[in-house]
Formats: sequence, C-alpha cells, structure tokens
Amino acid sequence: MDARFTCLVFLLFTVVNSKSNNLEITSLHVQSDIRYRFATTLVTSTVANSDNKSVEAKFDVTLPDAAFITEFVMEIDGKLYPGEINEKEKAKKKYETAKKKGQTAGIVSQKPRHTNRFSVDVNIAAESTVTFNLTYQELLERVYGEYEHIIYIDPGQIVEDFKIDVAIHESRDITKVSVPPIRNDILSDSSIDEGKNALVTINRPTTKSAMIHYAPTTDDQKQQSDQGISGLFVIEYDVERKFDGGEVLVRLI
Ligand SMILES: *[C@@H]1O[C@H](CO)[C@@H](O)[C@H](O)[C@H]1NC(C)=O
Ligand SMILES: *[C@@H]1O[C@H](CO)[C@@H](O)[C@H](O)[C@H]1NC(C)=O
Repeated sequence: MDARFTCLVFLLFTVVNSKSNNLEITSLHVQSDIRYRFATTLVTSTVANSDNKSVEAKFDVTLPDAAFITEFVMEIDGKLYPGEINEKEKAKKKYETAKKKGQTAGIVSQKPRHTNRFSVDVNIAAESTVTFNLTYQELLERVYGEYEHIIYIDPGQIVEDFKIDVAIHESRDITKVSVPPIRNDILSDSSIDEGKNALVTINRPTTKSAMIHYAPTTDDQKQQSDQGISGLFVIEYDVERKFDGGEVLVRLI
C-alpha cells in the first residue's frame, strides 16, 4: 500500500479583476470551509463606481475543472440579482493562442491548464456599489503528500478591506498546516520548503481542526506591488495517516 496517501484540495479563483480606474474594490473576503474532503468557498466582494456615469465592469473568475458554482448573487442598491455566469469561449481561445505562442499575455498566461474560466459582466450605475457573493464547492482529490488548498488572488488593485479565512475540519488529527508566501507559479514544487507567509495566523482549536487567517493591510499589499497582491494563496496540510486504509482504498479501486 502506498504510504504517501495524499489529499488535495485544489481551489483556484481569480477573485475580482477590474482594471478600470473608476472602479474601486472596497472589500474582498474569501471564506473557505473544508470539511472531510469537501471544500465550500464563499467570495464576497464590494465594488464601488465613484464615477458620475455608469461603468461596464468585467470580472474574471477561474475555477478548477472539478469545482462547481453553487451560488452567485449580486446585490445592487439593496436589490438582489441572481447572477448568470457565462463561460467566454473568446477568453479561452485567447488564452490558448497565447499559450501556444508561449507569450506571457498578462493575467491569462498565469492561469494553469484544466481550469474553468468565466467572465462576469456587470453594469454598475453612477455612484453606486455592487456586492457579489460567489459560492463554489469542490470534492477533494488526492494527489501529492498533502492537501493543498489554493486560492488565486488578483484584484488588480490595493483593497482596503481584504481578508481570507479558511477553516479546516477533518475526521483525523491534522498533523501539519502551513501557508507559504504568496506563490506566483502554479507549477512550483510544493515539496520545497518555501518558508512561511508572515502575515498569516494559524489557530488550532482542536487537533482535528485549524483556522487560517490572512488580512494584509493596504501597506502590506503595496509592498508587493502598486496593483496589490497577485498570486496563489496556498494552504498545505496533512492528516494522521497511521491507521489510514479502508476509506482511501475504496476510492482507489
Ligand atoms: C461628470 O463629471 C465630469 C467631470 O467631473 C463633468 O465634466 C460631467 O459633466 C459630469 N457628467 C454628469 C452627467 O454629471
Ligand atoms: C453575502 O455573504 C455575506 C457574508 O460574506 C453575507 O453576510 C450576505 O448576507 C450575503 N449576501 C447575499 C445576498 O447572499
């Protein structure tokens, strides 16, 4: 029996991306709840249009193949609008073309293969705000020697109110939890010790749970770039595998 039982939570998401000068992302909250191999992630973001005319905003959303969106809701001036997310073939083609040419076509080139790409178009009226909630879920897959929960961050600007909270609940003891510095390359070898993200706090309420909190201030974000933080926020964890067996074998057969 392969002793390297590996469980992977791979969640990838371009949270909100708007390069328009008139649009300010005033808040961006990512909340993940991982329970026994099933991850539910809620992204809540508020975008303000400070201009005196309406602005067409486009947000890119990237999810791994296995993830599915369970809810997408927009709130504009107190009214709720269930959102429609349409995959944009055009964006996909552009990406494929850039990939073939080996170009680094901005954001697009950073996206790994095997992801779902979506585009969300929103018309934001003059001097108003839009809040949207996107919930997606993914069943865990087992790949390398640990679970890896990845959240892709690329707001394209400094965000005043920015935080990521991840709660992990497992049936077995969690033997290891760590968060390396923001990664820029999806293909980096996670077996290399990359050190720690100094801005992350990890609490362990019980041996079977972990709470990860990350809330970079605007100054912290500026230190990475004028466009704020961009890259992969990765949580690596592992569970007690000494008595592992049945559950895992069933899935391998
Ligand atoms: C919007 O603001 C610009 C400059 O601040 C001004 O020239 C324009 O007339 C304004 N438009 C409206 C519809 O208020
Ligand atoms: C969106 O999510 C937030 C929590 O982040 C919640 O307080 C709010 O009620 C949700 N809004 C909608 C419309 O679902």
